Amino acid sequence: MITPSPATPQDLEAFWMPFTANRQFKAAPRLLERAEGMHYWTPDGRQVLDGVAGLWCVNAGHGRREITEAVSRQIGKLDFAPTFQMGHPIAFEFANRLIRHTPGDLDHVFFTNSGSESVDTALKIAIAYHRARGEGTRQRLIGREKGYHGVGFGGISVGGMVNNRKSFGSLLTGVDHLPHTLDLSRNAFSKGLPEWGTHLADDLERIVQLHDASTIAAVIVEPLSGSAGVVLPPRDYLKRLREICDRHGILLIFDEVITGFGRLGQPFGAQFFDVLPDIMTTAKGLTNGAIPMGAVFVRKQVYDAFMSAPEGAIELFHGYTYSGHPVACAAGIATQRIYEEEGLLTRAGELAPYWQEAAHSLKGLPHVIDIRNLGLIAGIELEPVAGKPGSRAFGVFRTAFERGLLIRVTGDIIALSPPLIIEKAQIDQIFGTLADILRN
Ligand SMILES: Cc1ncc(COP(=O)(O)O)c(C=O)c1O
Repeated sequence: MITPSPATPQDLEAFWMPFTANRQFKAAPRLLERAEGMHYWTPDGRQVLDGVAGLWCVNAGHGRREITEAVSRQIGKLDFAPTFQMGHPIAFEFANRLIRHTPGDLDHVFFTNSGSESVDTALKIAIAYHRARGEGTRQRLIGREKGYHGVGFGGISVGGMVNNRKSFGSLLTGVDHLPHTLDLSRNAFSKGLPEWGTHLADDLERIVQLHDASTIAAVIVEPLSGSAGVVLPPRDYLKRLREICDRHGILLIFDEVITGFGRLGQPFGAQFFDVLPDIMTTAKGLTNGAIPMGAVFVRKQVYDAFMSAPEGAIELFHGYTYSGHPVACAAGIATQRIYEEEGLLTRAGELAPYWQEAAHSLKGLPHVIDIRNLGLIAGIELEPVAGKPGSRAFGVFRTAFERGLLIRVTGDIIALSPPLIIEKAQIDQIFGTLADILRN
């Protein structure tokens, strides 16, 4: 337990914390006060190695001066301007800069403020796209078990994490789910992509037979699911999904909120897996987490379908007050410049073999029942304590924090996704600390 320091707020009650056991946290808070590079510092001055890039977002490391300065300059010049029937130069500049790295013709950008908004935007675009083309019956959305697509009603409807869905009523109608791809009995301790399970994509054919292709607008999947505990696609699974979508005129949406911006060693998961989606959602690494922002990329044909609306008509009745916020755009441009100059969009690929071996060195330690990895992501699954699911991993999380390492846990799975600037010695520190905790 951390002893509150003078910098610890006296009253923690007012802030209803997200995805947090509020009463437990407030009884023994874990606070982060400052950050730089690969580290956080607690109010009492302890250094904590960031094993999760904040929350999968600080890809270029913390406290990047270039981003701070760009934000400060922009807020002084233009703090806000609307993008409804008006525009400001930096939003166009940012969009043009972003499409340098997107695959294929994913070259139109719709700005949002978060991953959840990106997902809901993508789902709406998919349904409206079919309507604009005269196929308005295509309204069904297909997600996947264990999928995480944020917390909007669209996102939790296509998502497949039970706790995120069960308290919120009947959700969107017309949604179906593919099976998830996690199978420890066949794929445990696979290094990189699992070999077994490509055929799970064929379940989409079953869903098409059930509902008829004429009712299905889109399939949405994460190329690699992070929040559900690092669930990898079996080899060629995503290619198979693409083929089936093509066969039936169904749009394929990749939710790249965590795989976007270099996490797998390519700018996007789409390039890593060599599969071109029709729509791609992003957020997090877009601005290095410094200012909230999301972006949805659509292929030319999707954008063009809307552009045949009558001259002068608004083509898509959708948008946010802060779509293309000038200060977020400034943060984003500075972020992308760092990624390019420091080679961070591909650096994960160079470190991946070292990362993989370090992660798999935990095999054989007590309670470790699986290790999964790809790019600079790893998942370590622990055997649950009988009757207390999640408690074992949460114990590791708390001890790791006390020992100066920030990790993330979901259920009994430890998820790791450090800033892409990580050095090998820090990789050793992450897995060395975890090995020590697990051993004891
Ligand atoms: C794949 C995916 N989609 C969407 C989201 C939601 O993003 P946000 O929390 O910014 O709304 C996340 C967040 O972790 C995510 O991992």
